[in-house]
Amino acid sequence: MESPFKPEILKGKVALITGGASGIGFEISTQFGKHGASVALMGRRKQVLQSAVSVLQSLVIPAVGFEGDVRKQEDAARVVESTFKHFGRIDILVNAAAGNFLVSAEDLSSNGFRTVLDIDSVGTFTMCHEALKYLKKGGEGRSNSSSGGSIINISATLHYTASWYQIHVSAAKAAVDATTRNLALEWGTDYDIRVNGIAPGPISGTPGMSKLAPDEISSKARDYMPLYKLGEKWDIAMAALFLASDAGKFVNGDTMIVDGGLWLSRPRHLEKEAVKQVSRSVEKRSRNVPVGVPKSKL
Ligand code: COA
Repeated sequence: MESPFKPEILKGKVALITGGASGIGFEISTQFGKHGASVALMGRRKQVLQSAVSVLQSLVIPAVGFEGDVRKQEDAARVVESTFKHFGRIDILVNAAAGNFLVSAEDLSSNGFRTVLDIDSVGTFTMCHEALKYLKKGGEGRSNSSSGGSIINISATLHYTASWYQIHVSAAKAAVDATTRNLALEWGTDYDIRVNGIAPGPISGTPGMSKLAPDEISSKARDYMPLYKLGEKWDIAMAALFLASDAGKFVNGDTMIVDGGLWLSRPRHLEKEAVKQVSRSVEKRSRNVPVGVPKSKL
């Protein structure tokens, strides 16, 4: 699908995207590149990184891949520095790296819980912390820039209510959202850095989707969730473009929900026609009841 944004909205910007070589992260890398940014991808798998970078380069997007695990502080520091050395600045950090699997709370070990928090929550904070000096207004590589950089943390909607078999991810993403808001307050005030999040719904063709909603589950879900439909990676990338570009220059500390309204879904307990009937007859009945007469006496 064609982008509704002008192709130069990120012209001259450099973006570092964790988990940028696959899934939602790769689509963000691609769209950022198509809109003028140079992109550095961070990931654990060398081959996945290499093939992602070649695809981007074939689209004439300046791209580079750095191997690294967001759980390791030394990797985070090295990749941030390498990105700066390679492109001469860093304007945008996207934290898209995440870990997930379906498991009941009863069957989840503390280490399993901790592993996902380490990737999603601690990893996001570590990357933000390491990138700070480059994202600061007037910081290294940004001395001529009129504004500070921008951070986008990929979150979820799981923790808004509660989600089956996702206690670890719900806890991790709640921490990500808190991190987004707190950094938006501190770094927005001190350094003019905008920190926002995106909470995607189920997105087709992603590792998350195939892990969490295999085909059997997805088709069943469509039956009982009125708003159930899948989003596309493109939908998330467009939200990221909005937040990273000047279109979002007054947006700070927000986590934009991009799920087609799915998290609001409730089963419909009454058909619309039935509501009309029931509602009117209940009204009529209540009008005819004298005040103070108990129902049992009618
Ligand atoms: N069910 C229950 N526990 C699980 C599990 C599952 N499906 N998968 C992993 N765990 C537990 C392990 O048993 C282990 O705990 P233990 O030491 O108490 O046994 C802990 O989680 C760590 O597992 P390990 O396989 O050593 O972690 P890893 O660092 O190799 O991999 C994961 C991290 C598990 C998050 C892995 O799925 C991953 O790398 N994911 C990244 C990609 C991804 O998930 N993308 C989707 C994003 S939505």
